[in-house]
Amino acid sequence: MSLLLKNGLVVTSAGSSIADVYAEGDKIRAVGTGLEMKADETVDASGKYILPGCIDPHTHLDMPYLDTASADDWATGSVAAACGGTTTILDFSMQAKGETLRDAIERQKGKADGKTAIDYGIHPGVTDARPDVIDEVKKAIHEYGTPSLKIYMSYDFRVDDYSMIRLLEETREHGGLVQVHAENFDIIRRLNERFAAAGSLSPLYHAKAHSVLAEEEAVGRAIAMVELTDSRIYVVHLSSARGLQRIREARERGLRVFAETCPQYLTLTEERYAEPDWSGAKYVMSPPLRTRENVEQIWRGLRDGAVQTVGTDHCPFNFKGQKDMAGRGDYRKIPNGAPGIETMLMLLHSEGVVKGRISIEGMVDALSTATARIFGLANKGAIEAGKDADIVVFDPKRRFSISREKLHQNVDYTPWEAWEITGMPEIVYLRGKRVAEWAVDRMRFVGQAGWGRFVKRVPFAGLLEASACQTPA
Ligand code: URP
Ligand code: ZN
Repeated sequence: MSLLLKNGLVVTSAGSSIADVYAEGDKIRAVGTGLEMKADETVDASGKYILPGCIDPHTHLDMPYLDTASADDWATGSVAAACGGTTTILDFSMQAKGETLRDAIERQKGKADGKTAIDYGIHPGVTDARPDVIDEVKKAIHEYGTPSLKIYMSYDFRVDDYSMIRLLEETREHGGLVQVHAENFDIIRRLNERFAAAGSLSPLYHAKAHSVLAEEEAVGRAIAMVELTDSRIYVVHLSSARGLQRIREARERGLRVFAETCPQYLTLTEERYAEPDWSGAKYVMSPPLRTRENVEQIWRGLRDGAVQTVGTDHCPFNFKGQKDMAGRGDYRKIPNGAPGIETMLMLLHSEGVVKGRISIEGMVDALSTATARIFGLANKGAIEAGKDADIVVFDPKRRFSISREKLHQNVDYTPWEAWEITGMPEIVYLRGKRVAEWAVDRMRFVGQAGWGRFVKRVPFAGLLEASACQTPA
């Protein structure tokens, strides 16, 4: 199967120009002007952008939660991702007590294989940092194809500082990367106790308990451990200006601290928690939504390169039956997380590029190129000969009104209901095969369950000390 895209604006993190793209089999074979190869499929991409498929480094598909699970499994979640222009996801699999890292990885692969419509990798999550698990880190990096490992500084399954130090030492030595959920457990715990004593248990108090101070302290502590070990770390879902300031200072001191944010921290604010009829529960996620000032500072971080990537933290729970399950009346019982796997590219383009907050090159870097480099996806993340033909033909003028009913996510709400979007995918290709396309007023999935493959990732290569497209704030 071969594919020729003609006269589109090919966007890379370093620049954009009108060109043709030729793909054969799984791979992009040529990028240039006036390509005349005979192809099975030729597309006139005039007026369109040719973007690398997005890589979402932060999803939680079919994630167990008490006696339920996140609402999207690998079938529905990967279809939704494809329809949003995402061709690779990196999902988490948390180690259960007593398990090896390999057990955790195989468990999630067992759920994904045969079902996923797009490519994927796994970040094992370390909850039980026994000496044999610390020893296994080297294998995770070099044998299992999973060089990034997640830890939590919060929740009951958090690791202590000693374990964080040991993991940083091992990943430094073997070329891995620790990802950290940075919130201070005891600050949140004490604030929860205070609010409970005062009878303040509405969703707004979730946001107040998960205070900016809890994020700032944990980011600062993680940075201290990076300094101690001369290692590197990746802060997931950064939400606050104060956390960002810690990261900026660390990077200015030459420490290798990377950060990811999510569309929700770039577009939504804490007023959402006041929605009536327990609707504020839809936004109960950790960290929580912040103020407008925080939102603008996070955009600034993305613009100037202090934040390198965007992921969705897609962790969907239905409002009816899950978010309001045991939780009505007590925010502490609401499952944490929100949906977003399908809306990342459209929001980043419409709210970021169209509104002048980031450049189109910066968007491609944060959604694909930097993500591929940081996470060792050697064959992905750019429109370049030799890379996988994961391609989005994107119509920058297409209008779309977001609604739950037009999305493919298996969840009963979207936080962006009725948002008016400018710019949507026209066609999405996974390794040269069409998986999604625009159809009248929404995206349609045209791929197949099982087309996606597990991608073995390569060790961290230290290539992302500076991003190619940083622009001054
Ligand atoms: O609230 C969130 N983010 N839930 C998903 C789990 C996590 O902390 O990433
Ligand atoms: Zn998450």
